[in-house]
Amino acid sequence: MHGSTSPDLQSAPQQAAAPAPAGLPARLAIVIPTFNEVENVPILINRLSETLAGIPWEAVFVDDDSKDGTVDALRAAAQADPRVRLVHRIGRRGLSSAVVEGIQSTSAPLVAVMDADLQHDETLLPRMAEQFADPSVDLVVGSRYMAGGGVGEWSKHRQTVSRVATQMSRLIVKADLSDPMSGFFMIRRASFDVAARQLSSQGYKILLDIIASAPRRLKIKELPFEFSPREHGESKLDSMVTWEYIALLLDKSIGRFVPARFVMFSMVGGAGVFVHMATLALMFQGFRASFDVGQATAAAVAMTFNYFVNNLLTYRDRRLKGFWGNVRGLLSFYAVGAIGAIANVGVANALFVEQHYSWVAAAIAGILVGAVWNYGVSAIFTWRSK
Ligand code: GDD
Ligand code: MN
Repeated sequence: MHGSTSPDLQSAPQQAAAPAPAGLPARLAIVIPTFNEVENVPILINRLSETLAGIPWEAVFVDDDSKDGTVDALRAAAQADPRVRLVHRIGRRGLSSAVVEGIQSTSAPLVAVMDADLQHDETLLPRMAEQFADPSVDLVVGSRYMAGGGVGEWSKHRQTVSRVATQMSRLIVKADLSDPMSGFFMIRRASFDVAARQLSSQGYKILLDIIASAPRRLKIKELPFEFSPREHGESKLDSMVTWEYIALLLDKSIGRFVPARFVMFSMVGGAGVFVHMATLALMFQGFRASFDVGQATAAAVAMTFNYFVNNLLTYRDRRLKGFWGNVRGLLSFYAVGAIGAIANVGVANALFVEQHYSWVAAAIAGILVGAVWNYGVSAIFTWRSK
């Protein structure tokens, strides 16, 4: 739109902040995911203008339909300063996917990612950008865990969790990073592009995702910063993030061979076996029910257990909600499971009786067929993607 002589655009409201130098295309884009950050957004924009004077920059906010007025605040800010842009997503949630969409919406050759809640020290941005004078540098990471950095007032518990997660990340990234969980980094657009098609984009560990998805080893530099306490609003990362983290590790390690979701589905199924046996023991031995009644009850309890745990974890991104959503989900899951059980018994029986497989091998084959059926068909009928 720059340089347009349309009368409509000329009568646009007066810009409050200084515009980018001579309307130059942005050399640096700062991608900022937001979810309910209305108080933080104006403060952050002011701080960016101050810190980045001299660099042609733009800020790309990616908001997942906040309900606290963040969207209106961002629209107003964008009308006051053309360097501020907004991507407003509806019906989707997720830190990583928001960041990816933000990066893809800009043409700037350098892209930084930072939180909107003022916990990341924006004064580090110019020094991060300077590192790219070395053409071999792909990525610069703001680190809390190297000398000179810090986590401020974090509780002992959160520090421990973060350190354990850092150790686990070494399973999938070949890089030696002091802070692979950092949400504050800057990347060369060309280096992001080589990883873009392989990204998981699930959960919130976008930095790890980029490093693990890049087909070549990225050259990474780290700069220390002090992680500030949050002053306005609250953290959105709930207890589910631990599970999402495991999901990312699975996807980036064995995900090449088997879908990570299938592994999770099978793990939940394994837990379901214990639920089944416990229920059967209670019914058959505790309540003296007949074996077939006990077995049927146990199967129903285990299926119900599996449905709810899968809905919570395996399909957390497509979770069925509300009373009727769950009734529909549960019924379709029972139906899929019933056919899966018939397939399981049929295959196992055929292998055992006709092919003379050992009973263990026949049973395992039956279980595998049932699991693949349940997984594949419930993905279509129970948790169909929108
Ligand atoms: N668009 C969008 N969608 N933004 C989101 C979402 C979402 O689903 N969830 C969170 N955000 C935004 C928040 O508004 C904030 O700007 C930023 O993402 C970080 O969210 P916080 O809720 O403040 O996360 P945190 O402070 O607990 O975690 C931070 O530190 C972690 C390291 O311990 C983040 O930087 C993480 O990425 C980082 O791993
Ligand atoms: Mn935060």
